[in-house]
Amino acid sequence: MSIRAERPAVRALQPSLIRKLANAAIGRADIIPLWFGEPDKPTPEFIRQAAKDAIDEGQTYYQPSLGIAELRAALAEYTNGLYDASLRPDNFVVAPSGMTALSVALQCIVADGAAVVAPSPVWPNVAGAAEILGAEVVRVPIRPLDGVWSLDLDELFAACPAHTGALAINSPNNPTGWMLEDVEQQRIIDFCRERDIWLIADEVYNRIVYDRARAPSFADKVCDDDKYVIINSFSKSWAMTGWRLGWLTAPATLVATLGVVGEFNFSCVFAPTQVAGIAALQDGEAFISASRERYRAARDLVAASFAGLPRVEFPLPQAAFYAFFSVDGVTDSYSFAERMLRERAVGLTPGAAFGPEGEGYLRLCYAAELPLLERALEQMRPLLK
Ligand SMILES: Cc1ncc(COP(=O)(O)O)c(C=O)c1O
Repeated sequence: MSIRAERPAVRALQPSLIRKLANAAIGRADIIPLWFGEPDKPTPEFIRQAAKDAIDEGQTYYQPSLGIAELRAALAEYTNGLYDASLRPDNFVVAPSGMTALSVALQCIVADGAAVVAPSPVWPNVAGAAEILGAEVVRVPIRPLDGVWSLDLDELFAACPAHTGALAINSPNNPTGWMLEDVEQQRIIDFCRERDIWLIADEVYNRIVYDRARAPSFADKVCDDDKYVIINSFSKSWAMTGWRLGWLTAPATLVATLGVVGEFNFSCVFAPTQVAGIAALQDGEAFISASRERYRAARDLVAASFAGLPRVEFPLPQAAFYAFFSVDGVTDSYSFAERMLRERAVGLTPGAAFGPEGEGYLRLCYAAELPLLERALEQMRPLLK
C-alpha cells in the first residue's frame, strides 16, 4: 500500500528539479558542482566566533517568536542606514531562513484560491510555497532584451486576474540576475495600492549587485499603511546558507500576526544564530564588498568564455551570482544538464526548474574560485560549441 499525503495541493507538488539532478550525482567526487546557489567561502570567522561565544555563555533557551530585541534593533539600524528608510524594530521579524520567512508571509496573506502573480523564471520555492497553500501561481515572463533581462510592467499588471491576492517579486532575481529600478518599484507600489493587493518582495540578493553598493529596495518606498512584506536572508550576503537565518520587514500590525503564525511554524530561532546575525549586520561590510568583487571577476570570466561560443546566449546579470544562459538547439534543459553531468562532470541547474519560462536555459552559479570556474568552463566547452 502506498501512503500519501491527504491534501490535494500537497499531492500535486513536484519536487524541485534543482535537488533532483544533484541527488543523481551523490557519491561522484569528480563533479564540479555549480548548481546550488551559495557562496563557496565559509561564513567569516568573526560571525562564527560570535555564535560560539553565545553558546559558551549558555544562550541555549527558547527565545521570543519575533526574534531577540537586539537583532530586531540591529535590522532596523542596518536597513535604515542602507536605504533612506525610517523603519522601527517592530517592523522586523526574525525567521529561521528566508525560505521560512516566505512561507510564513504567504500563510498570512494568501487566501484559499487566490492568485499569486510572479515574474518568472523564478526560484521554484516561491511557487511551491504558494501552491502548498492552494494558491494559483500566475507567471509573467522576464525576457532578454538587448542583452539584459527585462520585465514589462504593463504586461505584469495586465496579467493580474481579479482574484489576485499578491504580487511576489524577486529582485534581484534568481536565476536571471534581473533587477528592478527605483522608478519601477514605485510603479509597482502604486499598482498594489490601487488594486489593494499585497506585495511580497524577495530581496535576498540585494547586496550582490555589480554597479552599486545595494539594489533598489521597496524598504524606502513603503509605509505602515501599505500591504507589503519584504523577505531577506543572511544566507547569500554573509555566506551563511547553512545557518538558516532570515528576516521579514512588514507593517507593525502585520508583524504581530507574523509572530503568532511564526510561533505555530518554528516557535523561535536559536539565540547564538541570532547573535551571529547581529555580528554580520554590524561588521560585515568589508566581507560584502570583497565578495562582490570576487563575483564580478567570476561573472566577467564566464561572459568572456561564452562570448567565444556562438551557440550560447548569455544576457549579462546585473546582480546575484548566476549565469542563466541558453544554448542554441537545446530545448530540454533537464536532459542537457544530465548530459553535462554525465559526459563533462559539471553540475548545472536545468532552467526548467525555474518554470516554463526557464526552459531552454541552464543556470551556473559562479560563486567559485576563478581556477575552478576556468576548469568547469573548459570541460563544458565541447557541449556548447
Ligand atoms: C530568490 C531566493 N529567495 C530566498 C532564498 C532563501 O534563502 P534561505 O532560505 O537560505 O535564507 C533563496 C535561496 O536560494 C533564493 O534564491
